[in-house]
Amino acid sequence: MHNTPFIIAVSGKGGTGKTTISSFLVRSFIELGEHPILAVDADPNSNLHEALGVQIHETLGSMREEAFTRSIPPGMSRLDYIKYRFRQALVEADGFDLVAMGRPEGSGCYCFANDLLSECMQQLGLEYRFIILDTEAGMEHISRGTIGKPNVLLIISDPGARGLRTVARIRAIATSLGLERTSIHVVFNRYKSGTAPINIGKETPIAIIPEDSAVEEADLAARPVSQISPNSPSRNAVTQLAKKLRVMR
Ligand SMILES: Nc1ncnc2c1ncn2[C@@H]1O[C@H](COP(=O)(O)OP(=O)(O)OP(=O)(O)O)[C@@H](O)[C@H]1O
Ligand SMILES: [Mg+2]
Repeated sequence: MHNTPFIIAVSGKGGTGKTTISSFLVRSFIELGEHPILAVDADPNSNLHEALGVQIHETLGSMREEAFTRSIPPGMSRLDYIKYRFRQALVEADGFDLVAMGRPEGSGCYCFANDLLSECMQQLGLEYRFIILDTEAGMEHISRGTIGKPNVLLIISDPGARGLRTVARIRAIATSLGLERTSIHVVFNRYKSGTAPINIGKETPIAIIPEDSAVEEADLAARPVSQISPNSPSRNAVTQLAKKLRVMR
Protein backbone atom coordinates (compact mmCIF):
# COMPACT_ATOMS: atom_id res chain seq x y z
CA MET A 1 0.00 0.00 0.00
CA HIS A 2 1.37 3.42 -0.91
CA ASN A 3 -0.20 6.57 0.38
CA THR A 4 0.75 9.79 2.06
CA PRO A 5 1.05 9.11 5.76
CA PHE A 6 -0.59 11.52 8.19
CA ILE A 7 2.03 12.42 10.78
CA ILE A 8 0.99 13.26 14.34
CA ALA A 9 3.75 14.48 16.67
CA VAL A 10 3.15 14.30 20.42
CA SER A 11 5.19 16.79 22.45
CA GLY A 12 5.05 18.55 25.81
CA LYS A 13 6.95 19.13 29.02
CA GLY A 14 8.66 16.09 30.57
CA GLY A 15 6.35 13.72 32.42
CA THR A 16 3.07 15.17 31.14
CA GLY A 17 1.98 11.93 29.45
CA LYS A 18 3.45 12.04 25.92
CA THR A 19 4.36 8.37 25.87
CA THR A 20 1.13 7.23 27.51
CA ILE A 21 -0.98 9.23 25.05
CA SER A 22 1.11 8.18 22.03
CA SER A 23 0.58 4.53 22.93
CA PHE A 24 -3.16 5.12 23.43
CA LEU A 25 -3.38 6.83 20.03
CA VAL A 26 -1.79 3.80 18.38
CA ARG A 27 -4.36 1.50 20.03
CA SER A 28 -7.30 3.78 19.28
CA PHE A 29 -6.46 4.16 15.58
CA ILE A 30 -6.14 0.38 15.27
CA GLU A 31 -9.54 -0.08 16.96
CA LEU A 32 -11.03 2.49 14.58
CA GLY A 33 -9.70 0.48 11.63
CA GLU A 34 -7.18 3.22 10.77
CA HIS A 35 -4.11 1.06 10.37
CA PRO A 36 -1.31 0.14 9.79
CA ILE A 37 0.31 2.63 12.15
CA LEU A 38 3.99 3.46 12.48
CA ALA A 39 4.93 4.35 16.05
CA VAL A 40 8.16 6.34 16.21
CA ASP A 41 9.96 6.78 19.49
CA ALA A 42 11.87 10.00 18.95
CA ASP A 43 12.75 10.49 22.62
CA PRO A 44 16.32 9.37 23.38
CA ASN A 45 15.16 7.95 26.72
CA SER A 46 12.82 5.78 24.72
CA ASN A 47 10.10 3.78 26.43
CA LEU A 48 7.25 3.87 23.94
CA HIS A 49 7.85 0.17 23.27
CA GLU A 50 7.13 -0.60 26.94
CA ALA A 51 3.88 1.35 26.81
CA LEU A 52 2.92 -0.65 23.73
CA GLY A 53 4.15 -3.97 25.13
CA VAL A 54 6.77 -4.79 22.47
CA GLN A 55 10.53 -5.26 22.65
CA ILE A 56 13.12 -3.29 20.69
CA HIS A 57 16.43 -4.87 19.74
CA GLU A 58 18.22 -1.75 18.57
CA THR A 59 17.62 1.91 17.87
CA LEU A 60 18.37 3.68 14.58
CA GLY A 61 21.14 5.51 16.45
CA SER A 62 22.98 2.34 17.41
CA MET A 63 22.26 0.78 14.02
CA ARG A 64 23.80 3.81 12.28
CA GLU A 65 27.03 3.52 14.25
CA GLU A 66 27.39 -0.08 13.24
CA ALA A 67 26.16 0.10 9.65
CA PHE A 68 28.46 2.96 8.68
CA THR A 69 31.65 1.67 10.23
CA ARG A 70 31.73 -2.10 9.74
CA SER A 71 32.75 -3.74 6.51
CA ILE A 72 29.89 -4.60 4.20
CA PRO A 73 29.05 -8.21 3.28
CA PRO A 74 30.55 -9.02 -0.15
CA GLY A 75 28.34 -8.23 -3.12
CA MET A 76 26.30 -5.63 -1.22
CA SER A 77 26.53 -1.86 -1.56
CA ARG A 78 26.55 0.24 1.61
CA LEU A 79 23.22 1.72 0.61
CA ASP A 80 21.64 -1.72 0.27
CA TYR A 81 23.20 -2.80 3.55
CA ILE A 82 21.77 0.23 5.32
CA LYS A 83 18.34 -0.34 3.87
CA TYR A 84 18.52 -3.93 5.02
CA ARG A 85 19.70 -2.98 8.54
CA PHE A 86 17.05 -0.26 8.75
CA ARG A 87 14.36 -2.88 8.17
CA GLN A 88 15.86 -5.03 10.90
CA ALA A 89 15.54 -2.19 13.39
CA LEU A 90 11.79 -2.10 12.72
CA VAL A 91 9.65 -3.98 15.26
CA GLU A 92 6.57 -5.54 13.68
CA ALA A 93 3.47 -5.98 15.82
CA ASP A 94 -0.26 -6.44 15.37
CA GLY A 95 -1.64 -3.39 13.51
CA PHE A 96 1.48 -1.32 14.05
CA ASP A 97 5.24 -1.26 13.63
CA LEU A 98 7.65 0.59 15.87
CA VAL A 99 11.01 2.21 15.33
CA ALA A 100 13.12 3.91 18.01
CA MET A 101 15.39 6.77 16.91
CA GLY A 102 17.79 6.45 19.86
CA ARG A 103 20.47 8.96 20.75
CA PRO A 104 21.40 11.73 18.38
CA GLU A 105 24.98 11.49 17.12
CA GLY A 106 28.03 13.01 18.76
CA SER A 107 30.20 15.66 17.19
CA GLY A 108 31.30 13.93 13.96
CA CYS A 109 29.77 14.62 10.56
CA TYR A 110 26.87 12.31 10.02
CA CYS A 111 25.13 14.25 7.27
CA PHE A 112 25.50 11.39 4.81
CA ALA A 113 24.22 8.86 7.35
CA ASN A 114 21.31 11.09 8.31
CA ASP A 115 20.38 11.75 4.71
CA LEU A 116 20.22 8.01 4.13
CA LEU A 117 18.18 7.44 7.26
CA SER A 118 15.75 10.19 6.25
CA GLU A 119 15.40 8.57 2.86
CA CYS A 120 14.69 5.21 4.52
CA MET A 121 12.19 6.85 6.89
CA GLN A 122 10.36 8.66 4.07
CA GLN A 123 10.10 5.45 2.08
CA LEU A 124 8.95 3.47 5.09
CA GLY A 125 6.32 6.10 5.93
CA LEU A 126 4.50 5.43 2.65
CA GLU A 127 3.38 2.07 4.02
CA TYR A 128 1.30 3.53 6.85
CA ARG A 129 -1.93 5.45 7.29
CA PHE A 130 -0.77 7.28 10.38
CA ILE A 131 2.61 7.92 11.95
CA ILE A 132 2.59 8.66 15.68
CA LEU A 133 5.71 10.37 16.91
CA ASP A 134 6.53 10.40 20.62
CA THR A 135 9.00 13.26 20.82
CA GLU A 136 10.80 15.32 23.45
CA ALA A 137 10.02 18.99 24.01
CA GLY A 138 12.88 20.21 21.77
CA MET A 139 11.64 18.06 18.86
CA GLU A 140 15.21 17.38 17.76
CA HIS A 141 14.43 14.72 15.18
CA ILE A 142 11.87 17.00 13.55
CA SER A 143 14.40 19.84 13.36
CA ARG A 144 16.93 17.44 11.86
CA GLY A 145 14.50 16.46 9.15
CA THR A 146 14.93 12.73 9.74
CA ILE A 147 11.17 12.53 9.99
CA GLY A 148 8.95 14.58 7.70
CA LYS A 149 7.11 17.63 8.99
CA PRO A 150 4.12 16.60 11.09
CA ASN A 151 0.60 17.36 9.88
CA VAL A 152 -0.53 17.76 13.48
CA LEU A 153 1.45 18.72 16.56
CA LEU A 154 -0.18 17.87 19.87
CA ILE A 155 1.21 19.69 22.90
CA ILE A 156 0.43 17.73 26.04
CA SER A 157 0.11 19.69 29.26
CA ASP A 158 -0.87 18.77 32.76
CA PRO A 159 -3.12 21.30 34.47
CA GLY A 160 -0.17 22.87 36.36
CA ALA A 161 1.51 26.18 35.60
CA ARG A 162 4.81 24.71 34.38
CA GLY A 163 3.14 22.43 31.87
CA LEU A 164 1.02 25.28 30.57
CA ARG A 165 4.00 27.63 30.25
CA THR A 166 5.79 24.99 28.19
CA VAL A 167 2.92 25.19 25.66
CA ALA A 168 4.07 28.66 24.57
CA ARG A 169 7.69 27.51 24.44
CA ILE A 170 6.86 24.57 22.18
CA ARG A 171 4.77 26.79 19.92
CA ALA A 172 7.82 29.03 19.54
CA ILE A 173 10.02 26.02 18.70
CA ALA A 174 7.43 24.91 16.12
CA THR A 175 7.60 28.35 14.49
CA SER A 176 11.40 28.26 14.44
CA LEU A 177 11.26 24.82 12.78
CA GLY A 178 9.07 26.20 10.00
CA LEU A 179 5.99 24.21 10.94
CA GLU A 180 3.56 26.87 9.64
CA ARG A 181 1.47 24.25 7.90
CA THR A 182 1.26 21.99 10.91
CA SER A 183 -1.93 22.35 12.91
CA ILE A 184 -1.06 22.71 16.55
CA HIS A 185 -3.42 21.63 19.32
CA VAL A 186 -3.19 21.57 23.09
CA VAL A 187 -4.24 18.47 25.03
CA PHE A 188 -4.83 18.59 28.77
CA ASN A 189 -3.83 15.39 30.54
CA ARG A 190 -4.32 14.20 34.12
CA TYR A 191 -7.18 16.63 34.38
CA LYS A 192 -9.10 16.73 37.65
CA SER A 193 -11.05 19.90 38.17
CA GLY A 194 -9.26 22.88 36.69
CA THR A 195 -6.05 24.37 35.36
CA ALA A 196 -3.56 26.94 36.62
CA PRO A 197 -4.37 30.54 35.61
CA ILE A 198 -1.94 30.65 32.68
CA ASN A 199 -3.02 32.00 29.34
CA ILE A 200 -2.37 29.45 26.56
CA GLY A 201 -3.98 31.52 23.82
CA LYS A 202 -7.52 31.71 22.61
CA GLU A 203 -7.77 28.15 21.42
CA THR A 204 -9.62 25.53 23.48
CA PRO A 205 -7.88 22.18 24.01
CA ILE A 206 -8.66 19.51 21.41
CA ALA A 207 -8.96 16.93 24.20
CA ILE A 208 -9.16 16.80 27.97
CA ILE A 209 -7.88 13.50 29.32
CA PRO A 210 -8.78 12.77 32.92
CA GLU A 211 -6.51 11.53 35.67
CA ASP A 212 -7.13 7.78 35.53
CA SER A 213 -6.33 5.25 38.25
CA ALA A 214 -6.19 2.49 35.59
CA VAL A 215 -2.98 4.11 34.24
CA GLU A 216 -1.33 4.00 37.63
CA GLU A 217 -2.52 0.45 38.28
CA ALA A 218 -1.00 -0.75 35.00
CA ASP A 219 2.28 0.92 35.91
CA LEU A 220 2.32 -0.64 39.39
CA ALA A 221 1.58 -4.06 37.92
CA ALA A 222 4.32 -3.53 35.25
CA ARG A 223 1.71 -4.06 32.52
CA PRO A 224 1.93 -2.14 29.20
CA VAL A 225 -0.21 0.92 29.83
CA SER A 226 -1.84 0.80 26.41
CA GLN A 227 -3.42 -2.53 27.36
CA ILE A 228 -5.80 -0.98 29.92
CA SER A 229 -9.47 -1.29 29.04
CA PRO A 230 -10.59 0.86 26.09
CA ASN A 231 -13.50 1.86 28.34
CA SER A 232 -11.31 3.39 31.01
CA PRO A 233 -11.76 7.18 31.13
CA SER A 234 -8.32 8.16 29.78
CA ARG A 235 -8.34 5.61 26.93
CA ASN A 236 -11.86 6.61 26.02
CA ALA A 237 -10.87 10.30 25.86
CA VAL A 238 -7.98 9.43 23.54
CA THR A 239 -10.33 7.46 21.27
CA GLN A 240 -12.48 10.60 20.97
CA LEU A 241 -9.29 12.51 20.13
CA ALA A 242 -8.34 9.92 17.49
CA LYS A 243 -11.79 10.37 15.90
CA LYS A 244 -11.16 14.11 15.62
CA LEU A 245 -7.69 13.54 14.18
CA ARG A 246 -8.76 11.06 11.52
CA VAL A 247 -11.13 13.54 9.90
CA MET A 248 -8.21 15.98 9.54
CA ARG A 249 -6.48 13.45 7.34
N1 LIG B 1 -4.21 10.26 32.42
C1 LIG B 1 -3.35 9.80 33.33
N2 LIG B 1 -3.80 9.38 34.56
C2 LIG B 1 -2.94 8.95 35.48
N3 LIG B 1 -1.62 8.87 35.33
C3 LIG B 1 -1.09 9.27 34.15
C4 LIG B 1 -1.93 9.74 33.09
N4 LIG B 1 -1.14 10.05 32.03
C5 LIG B 1 0.13 9.78 32.41
N5 LIG B 1 0.17 9.31 33.69
C6 LIG B 1 1.37 8.93 34.44
O1 LIG B 1 2.27 10.03 34.40
C7 LIG B 1 3.61 9.59 34.30
C8 LIG B 1 4.29 10.21 33.09
O2 LIG B 1 3.66 9.71 31.91
P1 LIG B 1 4.48 9.48 30.56
O3 LIG B 1 5.66 8.62 30.79
O4 LIG B 1 3.50 9.06 29.53
O5 LIG B 1 4.94 10.97 30.30
P2 LIG B 1 6.03 11.51 29.26
O6 LIG B 1 5.60 12.89 28.92
O7 LIG B 1 6.20 10.55 28.15
O8 LIG B 1 7.33 11.51 30.17
P3 LIG B 1 8.87 11.73 29.69
O9 LIG B 1 9.00 13.21 29.47
O10 LIG B 1 9.65 11.23 30.85
O11 LIG B 1 9.05 10.93 28.43
C9 LIG B 1 3.58 8.08 34.26
O12 LIG B 1 3.80 7.57 35.56
C10 LIG B 1 2.15 7.78 33.81
O13 LIG B 1 1.72 6.54 34.31
MG1 LIG C 1 7.97 9.64 27.37
